[in-house]
Amino acid sequence: MLVPENVRIDSVSGAIAPETERYEKRLSELSQIFADREALGRMVVEGDPLVYKVLAYRKDGSDLWFGTTIIEAGDVGGEYFMTRGHFHKRHDMGEVYYTQSGKGVLVLQSRDGRVELLDMLPGTCSFIPPNWAHRSINVGPEPLVFVWVCDTEAGNDYGEILEKGMAKRVIVGGDGLRVVDRAD
Ligand code: NI
Repeated sequence: MLVPENVRIDSVSGAIAPETERYEKRLSELSQIFADREALGRMVVEGDPLVYKVLAYRKDGSDLWFGTTIIEAGDVGGEYFMTRGHFHKRHDMGEVYYTQSGKGVLVLQSRDGRVELLDMLPGTCSFIPPNWAHRSINVGPEPLVFVWVCDTEAGNDYGEILEKGMAKRVIVGGDGLRVVDRAD
């Protein structure tokens, strides 16, 4: 039988305790998602920075799965650090993102290509409906930390977004961010 327990989440570092799983993504593992491959190649040679990490809490036999994602501040040739982005394998399952610290943009894209952008600011709880791909982007100078909650069965399907990208890119502008169409 599963028993209740508390999980502590540090809103600045994103650390969770107890933590049952984690992974990290360095820039060299994300070469497909950034437009400026020259800048990316230089940054990989110069130290291959950490772009984001995911810390999670999952119990065998539970339908609930949650954790934190911490996206470092930075950009690749002017394109802000971001996650790969994914649809859920299960077409009937959405997700919740609750931003804890930092400043981000959540880019969502429906299966028929409609794009929506949501601000990710501390205290913002973002509703991600089923059938919307989601990618989070750190557009601030500090790490972006958010809590996510979804069904353990939701499953992450990275293929389509990795192959085709999303229709909008968020880049560093003169006095803030700019949203541009993807260049095919
Ligand atoms: Ni998801």
